[in-house]
Amino acid sequence: MKVISIVGARPQLVKLAPIAAAFAETEHEHFIVHTGQHYDADLSDVFFDGLGIPDPDVHLGAGSGSHGTQTGSVLTKLDPVLEREKPDWVLVYGDTNSTIAGALSAVKMHLPVAHLEAGLRSFNRRMPEEHNRILTDHCADVLLAPTAKAMDHLSDEGLKDRAVLAGDVMVDICLRIRDAVLAGEHPAPALPEGIDPERPFVLATLHRPDNTDDPQRLAAIMDSLAKLSVPVALLAHPRLVTRAAEHGINLAQGSVHVGRPLPYAGLVAAVLASSAVVTDSGGLQKEAFLLERITTTIRPETEWVETVDSGWNVLVPDPHEMSPDEWAATVSRAAPTGAPGTPYGDGRAAQNVVRIMEQWKGGSRRV
Ligand code: UD1
Repeated sequence: MKVISIVGARPQLVKLAPIAAAFAETEHEHFIVHTGQHYDADLSDVFFDGLGIPDPDVHLGAGSGSHGTQTGSVLTKLDPVLEREKPDWVLVYGDTNSTIAGALSAVKMHLPVAHLEAGLRSFNRRMPEEHNRILTDHCADVLLAPTAKAMDHLSDEGLKDRAVLAGDVMVDICLRIRDAVLAGEHPAPALPEGIDPERPFVLATLHRPDNTDDPQRLAAIMDSLAKLSVPVALLAHPRLVTRAAEHGINLAQGSVHVGRPLPYAGLVAAVLASSAVVTDSGGLQKEAFLLERITTTIRPETEWVETVDSGWNVLVPDPHEMSPDEWAATVSRAAPTGAPGTPYGDGRAAQNVVRIMEQWKGGSRRV
């Protein structure tokens, strides 16, 4: 079996790591295409080096641009690669513009497509990711769902026959790296200057267009972070840095200390060192849950509802509409008592994915 993985944005590289490792234990040929959606070393190269992922076999160099430009560029550059490589499967990951472009290119060539992290829904049609994941699910042949809830969503949309509960590959990688960090196998993370890892601090990230692109909204969210009494380590995504500069907003204000995005092991170590997390990232909500840190999510909804149902994650769409005391109390609330449970699987999802693709008989146009 020859499988082409199509990745391009940071969270996809994290998911690729356990999949590449699982394929390496088999006789199957695993070919990696990097679309180039993320090109900064901080968002791409450090993940290949740090997570032991083999170098991409092909790099499309698509880069940034409007949704149409970026998606179109990946489509145009991917067609000849799929034509030449003739894989048995194309595996796409998550919900980015690289995901939808990879799935579209493949289905139009009648190549079977598997979608990893299928069935997640925010029900927020303002999010570009919501369109990407729905369209990808509806055109893919096998839908690899991470949770029971995701299976329910696929069933509600008439996609039950193509859906399989595989578990969440992010558990595989997160727990492996957590154990390595706790065993002292990784250097201390490069936290922003002014953050003392021995004292309580809040780890923060912010990159969703809904939070970064409107100047007033970004200024209000930054003001809320700045007013927290506990130091805030803000790991600034390039979109946040670019938008803040365009809007004339200073990120390093009040309690906020600004640093660069961290490699994966550095991020896991930073979460473990922190007392709480504030974010709008899907991945970080779940990593904090797995690492047992309370999270406040600056979004009106989440795809990872299990983190909220268990009490580890609280949604605060507009922190600036809370009183400063209420906001501070929410961010620093006590952790729930009792273990968080295992709604995302047992850490062997990548092996499940390989097995499902080996055995898949239904729903595909070719198998
Ligand atoms: C993308 C995904 C999002 C994911 C996020 C993780 C889509 C629609 N969104 O958002 O789901 O959570 O990745 O990071 O695919 N930039 C750089 N260097 C880079 C990459 C981007 O400077 O290596 C800057 C550019 O100004 C670019 C902007 O960041 O225009 C946004 O990048 P883009 O890939 O369009 O989307 P993300 O916000 O990263």
